[in-house]
Amino acid sequence: MDKPKIVITREDIAEKIDELAAEIRRDYKDKNPLLIGVLKGSFVFLSDLVRAMNIPVEVDFIRVSSYGAGKESSGKIKLVKDVETPIKDRHVLIVEDIVDRGLTVRFLLDYFSFRKPASLKLCALFDKPSRRKVEVPIDYRGFTIPDAFVVGYGLDYSEQYRYLPDLCVLEEHK
Ligand code: IMP
Ligand code: MG
Repeated sequence: MDKPKIVITREDIAEKIDELAAEIRRDYKDKNPLLIGVLKGSFVFLSDLVRAMNIPVEVDFIRVSSYGAGKESSGKIKLVKDVETPIKDRHVLIVEDIVDRGLTVRFLLDYFSFRKPASLKLCALFDKPSRRKVEVPIDYRGFTIPDAFVVGYGLDYSEQYRYLPDLCVLEEHK
């Protein structure tokens, strides 16, 4: 079993979310934005973000499969669960845990823009730009991190470790 080692503490994450929330609040005040969390990884981030924003918002979720059980995937994105809210003429903010190759977010931006939202932006807590395969505009970015597989704060390795309050990397037991 691998042992998680903290790379970003819960305190640093909370501080960063307060900054992001202040920025988003300024931009979306009185717009009743629709925040769409990308399941499963973003459920922790989204719940902290909406409370830090503290303005009226609506929340929905979408689920796509990219990574399967493990650290790599085919690169093919498949829609697993759609949103339930009509997108047309809404101010949509996609809330994603991490942008890695960019494939998931590219798929979602194309998918939602087809439904004619009033605006469409992306908020990602973690960004691993070194692994990017397709360019994606990140409107609100939390942390830029090096190329390592991270877990915790919602992020999993084979469905494990999502509950960890800090962002961690897995290291072998000595
Ligand atoms: P992309 O399509 O390669 O950008 O992958 C994005 C998705 O892969 C994210 O929504 C995560 O669920 C997952 N992912 C990417 N990097 C990591 C990681 O380091 N740890 C856990 N999940 C990751
Ligand atoms: Mg995941």
